[in-house]
Amino acid sequence: MTDADKIKEEMRWLEAEIERHNRLYYQDAMPEISDYEYDQQLKKLEALEAAHPELASGTSPSLRVGGAPLDGFESVAHAQPMKSLSNTYNKGELVEFDERIRRLLPDHSFSYVLEPKIDGVAISLRYENGVLVQALTRGDGVTGDNVTANIRTIQSIPLRLQVTEPPAVLEVRGEIYMDKSGFAALNVQRQEDGLEPFANPRNACAGSLKQLDSKLVAKRPLDGIFYAAGELDGVSFDTHADLLSYLKDAGLKTAPKYWRVDGIELVNSLLDDLYAQRESFPFEMDGAVIKVNERHLYEQLGSTAKSPRWAVAYKYAPEQAQTRLLEITVQVGRTGVLTPVAELEAVQLSGTTVRRATLHNAEEIERKDVRVGDIVVVEKAGEIIPAVVRVVTEKRTGDELPFQMPQACPVCGSEVERRDGEVAIRCPNLQCPAQLKTWLEHFVSRDALDIEGAGGIVCDKLIEAGLVTSPMDLFTLTSEQLDTFNLGSADAPRMLGAKNAVKIIGSLQKAKTKPLANWLFAMGIPKLGKVGAQNIAEKHDSLNDVALSAILDDIVKLNERAEAIKPLKKEDPVAYEKECDALEEMGDRLVAIGWYKKSASRSQTRTMAKYTLINQQGVGSKTAASVLEFMNSERGVKMLAQMASYDITPRTEQKSSAVLNGKSFVITGTLPGMGRSEASKLIVQHGGIVSSSVSKNTDYLLAGEKAGSKLKKAESLGVNVISESELMAMIAES
Ligand code: IVH
Repeated sequence: MTDADKIKEEMRWLEAEIERHNRLYYQDAMPEISDYEYDQQLKKLEALEAAHPELASGTSPSLRVGGAPLDGFESVAHAQPMKSLSNTYNKGELVEFDERIRRLLPDHSFSYVLEPKIDGVAISLRYENGVLVQALTRGDGVTGDNVTANIRTIQSIPLRLQVTEPPAVLEVRGEIYMDKSGFAALNVQRQEDGLEPFANPRNACAGSLKQLDSKLVAKRPLDGIFYAAGELDGVSFDTHADLLSYLKDAGLKTAPKYWRVDGIELVNSLLDDLYAQRESFPFEMDGAVIKVNERHLYEQLGSTAKSPRWAVAYKYAPEQAQTRLLEITVQVGRTGVLTPVAELEAVQLSGTTVRRATLHNAEEIERKDVRVGDIVVVEKAGEIIPAVVRVVTEKRTGDELPFQMPQACPVCGSEVERRDGEVAIRCPNLQCPAQLKTWLEHFVSRDALDIEGAGGIVCDKLIEAGLVTSPMDLFTLTSEQLDTFNLGSADAPRMLGAKNAVKIIGSLQKAKTKPLANWLFAMGIPKLGKVGAQNIAEKHDSLNDVALSAILDDIVKLNERAEAIKPLKKEDPVAYEKECDALEEMGDRLVAIGWYKKSASRSQTRTMAKYTLINQQGVGSKTAASVLEFMNSERGVKMLAQMASYDITPRTEQKSSAVLNGKSFVITGTLPGMGRSEASKLIVQHGGIVSSSVSKNTDYLLAGEKAGSKLKKAESLGVNVISESELMAMIAES
């Protein structure tokens, strides 16, 4: 055996081992080795792949971290159309479904499989000779998007089927979903980062699969469950139950619960049992699916244009209950939005006691004609907060009272306002305690200024006592004031105490020298998260610099003007061309700082669409507009003035040069003077991005000795190939 053979053998062995451990961990929940040992194995494999790229396999588990971002998804035809299911809403309709089948197949006996209907995103995986070669979304049923790179990042989906004799083709269909608990955690994180939370796990899952950057997808808690076959070659199944057990043995997850049942009556009696188990499933269940078990009957039963006749979905009625609306209260959020809330007579719904339900906004109340004292129908669908569905008008007595949104903020009494184009009614008072409280909590939080001991009740009480009317007021507090500050009530006083006072004052002192990114985030600018603040801080020297930022201004204008000039194209082509030049100049400036990438598509070159954010670097137009608006608002101007008066002048942390300006690099082969991780660090330090695989988005391939397939690919795509010394020369230019 040659050395190369030995290495290859070791690599194959590691791949198989790692996938086996993946399966033990993600599917069987019975890990055999520690996370540390697992990481060591993966690192070892990655090191071997880095040193011998020509020996790397297309099914290596190292692919699961994601690859270079795509420009868009390729549209691919399904080998067999992906049909949908027809729905039934009651047990009688299921009996009709059964009768129809009996009419079509009078001389056959058959059974059913009852399984959960998973509320996710439909997917079709294609395994050729056991290797995952393609993953397509349903799309329009005939063609779908190629999301293979994203699907490979899902740990529980095998890159290679775990069977001894893989079939030539196995197309398997299933549902990608976001794990319920992972979804909850993701939303908490998004809110902390100032991002809009996802409405439900299905949206979060669909949004994740649409990401062009598979590295981001790798971080999302996605999973898959498989329940049907598409094209098959070299394998066949007598029954649906056989298919499911084959899939399971091959390493593909199947539903945690399903029943093979004789007769539709038994199916009907099991529907409630299935429903009762839904809470224990890691996915949201949006019904049940009933399938004929004998696959050889499928052809005879056939299908309509939309759905097969051998399967049907059963939708459970959402749980509803009637109760009395006792009162409508109004809550004030962080940005001052007033939300009406229904206070209800307690009622049992899906196993929980419901006392409140959202009424969204005044328009909604008017549309549904909700009045205080009404008997209303409340509904709880899945994980969503209960909502008032409708009023039971038949039960009105005439004593019910229409509701008016208050003219004044229920917390501070300021006159409320409605901004142009918004349904929301707001409290405009920046000092409103309701707004101030959430603002202050954000200001002192760990990712902002990390003022230890100043969160929670301390925030509330400082506002209540009038000691703090804006976050910057914290810097006026003295340790004497805090030491004797009463966190209790007049009757039952509870002092903050010297120890806590010292802690708070100490953290405030430290906060004064926190870097620009922390301060920018702490200001509580709508839409600006931690990462966005970090990005902006890297390109600016001070908060004043941000307030006057030409970069942010370019981003906003690029979007606004690209929209505004569209009509000019026909009306005044000369003026249009001029405007386009101006836009292009702006766009190129953004490309130069490394945040945006110019799309290669010539058809779009004269519009804004050609500039897209690179890999989440930099900020988008909505965030940029929000930052500028805040900095120039009463709140922002005051904050900057206060900071100046306390000598707080946050700066960006040690800035590395940005010569490489968001350029993307791939490293391959053995470099003469440094290790690959060293080279990688160097590139990132100078503003570059390092990816693991070559695509047409790659700007440079840094190639050393024994560069293999990546070099070939780079050459075929016309990617610049540079040596270590050329990289050093680029950096030295700074
Ligand atoms: S069978 C040809 N089984 O629901 C029929 N579908 O509303 C193939 N779905 O398109 C589908 N759980 O995306 C089947 N256990 C299950 C399912 C399921 C969820 C989805 C699937 C289908 C949609 C129809």
